[in-house]
Amino acid sequence: MESPSSQPLDGQSAIVTGASSGIGEATARALAGAGARVALAARRVERLESLRDDIEGEGGTAVVVETDVTDRDQVQALADKAQSEFGGIDILINNAGLMPLSYMKNLHEEEWERMVDVNLKGVLYNIGAVLPVMTKQGSGHIVNISSVAGRRVMPGGAVYSATKFGVRALSEGMRDELGAEGIRVTSVEPGAVDTELPETITDEELMDDIEGMMSGFDILESEDIARKILEAVTSPEHVNVEEIVIMPSGQRM
Ligand SMILES: NC(=O)c1ccc[n+]([C@@H]2O[C@H](COP(=O)([O-])OP(=O)(O)OC[C@H]3O[C@@H](n4cnc5c(N)ncnc54)[C@H](OP(=O)(O)O)[C@@H]3O)[C@@H](O)[C@H]2O)c1
Repeated sequence: MESPSSQPLDGQSAIVTGASSGIGEATARALAGAGARVALAARRVERLESLRDDIEGEGGTAVVVETDVTDRDQVQALADKAQSEFGGIDILINNAGLMPLSYMKNLHEEEWERMVDVNLKGVLYNIGAVLPVMTKQGSGHIVNISSVAGRRVMPGGAVYSATKFGVRALSEGMRDELGAEGIRVTSVEPGAVDTELPETITDEELMDDIEGMMSGFDILESEDIARKILEAVTSPEHVNVEEIVIMPSGQRM
């Protein structure tokens, strides 16, 4: 008989990138609350330390690993740390991202490049770091955070969408290839969520235009996304939740 205190993710371990705020932070809390030991990765270490303290205060287990996902060596060190601390890697939440939307004509080329580096290459580095471990285990679950912008393109969102369409395509191909290896892959595609993400926008012309588009409805909370991710990773082994599209009820785009 199961002990009354058993949790669905007891004995499992997870890496969460971008755990210092928003969706990553909420998901790390949800996974830890369900019994997983969690490696918290991002650049803002003090935020991660505070999150670790909260998780440990609730009786959970977490380690902080300062990681810039654009640096492949740091991403490998993150996977190595999770592997050595926890003895395996069962779940990767591939979440770190930024969204400096801008109109193409305004040529925010450094921001274009940054989005490719973080949203796409960072996601790939994390996949490359955990796959050998998961393949050897014959099990694992990779959750890639795409966006509704990975399905349709909003004004000023051409480059952001290019990265998020890319992440969605990657998830589709990975699920097809890796299912037979016992590795599940889920693409998460939220609409507007109340996080720090829009703070990366610097195109003033665009800021004026999108203000109207994002008002008049209740946007999602990070916990709404975390709850759906938890459902996916706690599904029975033979169930792969391939895509999660989650929108604010009132959002049109
Ligand atoms: N909010 C939305 O409406 C929405 C909708 C759809 C999809 N998403 C996606 O959800 C994911 C999380 O975003 P969020 O909304 O939760 O925004 P957020 O609160 O701004 O979180 C972004 C996270 O990414 C991390 N990050 C950024 N650059 C990084 C780097 N170079 N190395 C490591 N970590 C880095 C940040 O940590 P540090 O700055 O501490 O490194 C932060 O923890 C993103 O992929 C985003 O595209 C968001």
